[in-house]
Amino acid sequence: MAEEWRYFTDRRILMIPGPTELHPDVQRVLCSPPHAHYGGEWKSIYNETIELSRKIFNTEKSDVIIVPGPGTLALELGIASVVEPGDNVLCVSSGFFGDRFGEVARYCGANVITIKSDVGSVVSPDAFKTALENHKEVKAVLLVHNETSTATLSPIEEYVRIARRHGVLTLVDAISSYGGVNIDVDGWGIDFCVGYPNKCLAAIPSAAPVAISGEVLEAFERRREKPRSWFTNLEVWRHYISMWGDHGHPYPTTINTYSVLALREASRAAVEEGLEKRYARHQRVARAFRKAVRSMELEILPREECASPTVTALKLPREAAGKAEELVKLMLERYRIMITGGINDPEKRVIRIGHMGVTASARYLLPTIAAMANSLRALGYPVADGVNVLAEELAQF
Ligand SMILES: Cc1ncc(COP(=O)(O)O)c(C=O)c1O
Repeated sequence: MAEEWRYFTDRRILMIPGPTELHPDVQRVLCSPPHAHYGGEWKSIYNETIELSRKIFNTEKSDVIIVPGPGTLALELGIASVVEPGDNVLCVSSGFFGDRFGEVARYCGANVITIKSDVGSVVSPDAFKTALENHKEVKAVLLVHNETSTATLSPIEEYVRIARRHGVLTLVDAISSYGGVNIDVDGWGIDFCVGYPNKCLAAIPSAAPVAISGEVLEAFERRREKPRSWFTNLEVWRHYISMWGDHGHPYPTTINTYSVLALREASRAAVEEGLEKRYARHQRVARAFRKAVRSMELEILPREECASPTVTALKLPREAAGKAEELVKLMLERYRIMITGGINDPEKRVIRIGHMGVTASARYLLPTIAAMANSLRALGYPVADGVNVLAEELAQF
């Protein structure tokens, strides 16, 4: 740690696309006395968290549960419950997390057919429709709403409409869009949707809200064989919901009560802000940030029409190939601002910056863009600073 940080403390700002800075109410609740993960008082906290999650998912019809663990565990619960070994699954990928979703399905024994977009693009609804027409025996499709690795937003509503016409179940990873981009589980007809708290909600990991449709439960009943897993098995979950639900323990194991409390606080704050207003804020901030980055003559990785409202991926100048890590390191050391590089980026030119929850604001993005310009200059790449463009665009945030 540089000497001067002893005075300023080494407080860093997380401008990565998750985990993100915490909402103040989340920070407060993390310092509160512990709760047991069952009992009457806990039951009402848990139930309120479920009701708030329903609002963010836009669902009254689906069951909502909270999976205590990483987002991928919740995705695996969906796959392992719906898909049997040998079943065909169509995986739609525009980057690392789409590929990973397919990999989880492969580990669960599915026969995975993948359609991939070019880097910085998304699979078109037409290409998705053609893939479903060409593969008649598909049981489920795996979709990522916001691909955090390439900073792209996919047309989930259209995919789901097409999938439903083909009678195919839809499993959606909404981990990096939940609370930052509209998701309409009932309106669009999503079957299994996974959100996560440590990105756009500004809470902490380890409590994944999941919406599960009646069609998923019916598909589960029609299985030839039950899943050969315990935790990622809807039968086990349903057993504990019916047996222990009344005692405020509608899940199979101990859960981290702090992560549920954090999820409740963050969900309350999101609902109080107004979800539509909040989604518009993320969109407006992202657009302004991309404009400011372009004014520095840096390239935005995704095409504008599919650029994510919650994370920006940019490319350093060609001459700066290989320098992404150095830039990340310099920004952290000199300014205590943490950004990150690309995933699967052989040229080492990609930089990713999250604008999620509290960081989707001028207060966090102005210092970030100024520090980035200064750091690039310090590394020998003269760029305009972009601050004024961003300040003008974000005058009201
Ligand atoms: C879109 C997306 N899916 C899945 C994941 C994996 O989440 P976890 O590490 O909580 O399993 C991430 C994490 O960044 C993500 O951004």
